[in-house]
Amino acid sequence: MKIPFVTAEQLEKITAEFPTPFHLYDEKGIREKARALNQAFSWNPGFKEYFAVKATPTPTILKILQEENCGVDCASEIELLMSHKLGFKGEDIMFSSNDTPAKEFQYARKLGATLNLDAYEHVEFLKNVTTIPEIISCRYNPGGIFTLGTDIMNNPEESKFGMTKSQLIQAFKDLKALGVKKFGIHSFLASNTVTNDYYPTLAKALFELAVEVVAETDVALDFINLSGGIGVNYKPEQTENDIFKIGDGVRKAYEKVLTPNNLGHIKIFTELGRFMLAPHGHLITKVLHKKQTYRDYIGVDACAVNLMRPAIYDAYHHISVSGKEILPETESYDVVGSLCENNDKFAKQRKLPPIEVGDTLIIHDTGAHGFSMGYQYNAKLRSAEILWQENGTPRMIRRAENAADYFATLYGFDF
Ligand SMILES: Cc1ncc(COP(=O)(O)O)c(C=O)c1O
Repeated sequence: MKIPFVTAEQLEKITAEFPTPFHLYDEKGIREKARALNQAFSWNPGFKEYFAVKATPTPTILKILQEENCGVDCASEIELLMSHKLGFKGEDIMFSSNDTPAKEFQYARKLGATLNLDAYEHVEFLKNVTTIPEIISCRYNPGGIFTLGTDIMNNPEESKFGMTKSQLIQAFKDLKALGVKKFGIHSFLASNTVTNDYYPTLAKALFELAVEVVAETDVALDFINLSGGIGVNYKPEQTENDIFKIGDGVRKAYEKVLTPNNLGHIKIFTELGRFMLAPHGHLITKVLHKKQTYRDYIGVDACAVNLMRPAIYDAYHHISVSGKEILPETESYDVVGSLCENNDKFAKQRKLPPIEVGDTLIIHDTGAHGFSMGYQYNAKLRSAEILWQENGTPRMIRRAENAADYFATLYGFDF
């Protein structure tokens, strides 16, 4: 069972003040998560989390993370601009982009962000479009199949991201010749891993790579970026990741591989998004209609534009019916939105307690890659975002879009 971070009474007050649908974020949970992560890696003096802005590009959330000593990982010009305006300094910004336009490299350089090059070919491109920085990182793709024990986790060979080992070594040599003084290695091999072994396994592979790369290039290696990929237990029966076990696993690999090779100064960076935010966001929606045909449908006022993951990945998001959490799940419903698309379903044949029109549903684990993946199909508008503050009061941190927002970019018509 998943317990919402607001009670039914609290939610009734919040929905009386703010119309549904909206994303609700738990400030306390976010702060506690950031503190736990920093604590779990406190054995590494240079440790820093660069929160993946793409997961939740919401300024108030980024400010909370900034107060908890996190930096930001950006992948586009607007993410860079937002981070800059929020007061993130150059060294607090990682620019992990791919297929990058010249102007984005130029802007990232202007801000002093740390560039993380996705392709060997970008060394030449960078040299031609902007200045070469003192510190730079390269993204590694080992190819083959990435396994954890007997489980196949991903297929890096098919991934468009990163460069091969020989390209990475050549990139380091070329960049050193161009004046780069310090280097980093980055890799992201699997997404939403619900196991404490992913980071330690990735870390060991990257630490061994680091030893080899330094031996071959004699560069000053400053950091290793384990990127994102630590997941969350979207399904209640899954076991939640334990960040302290994960941090300890990385420490053991560090002490086994890096320390004996005189690389005990290397900083560990992360770019977590989902792990940091997903459980601390709920999508709150009310039931508009019930419909019975070959299945029983519950029509809600949110739809896939507010949360795309079920529609595109068939992803599971747990649903609680506010105030009915402990009732037996005697019904089987498809919970749907109003888009003219049959994949606009938050749940299919989900066991839930009896639901009535007007009930409030809580869709769990929507704090990352939720609002941010929103779109406007069917001329649906993006919802509001509300912060459930530490003091137990709600605050709107982004208003819902309105018709004027939708029409704002059109020329030649006055709607
Ligand atoms: C470069 C990079 N870093 C970090 C992340 C964050 O990943 P996650 O939210 O799974 O932790 C992503 C996600 O797409 C990414 O592309």
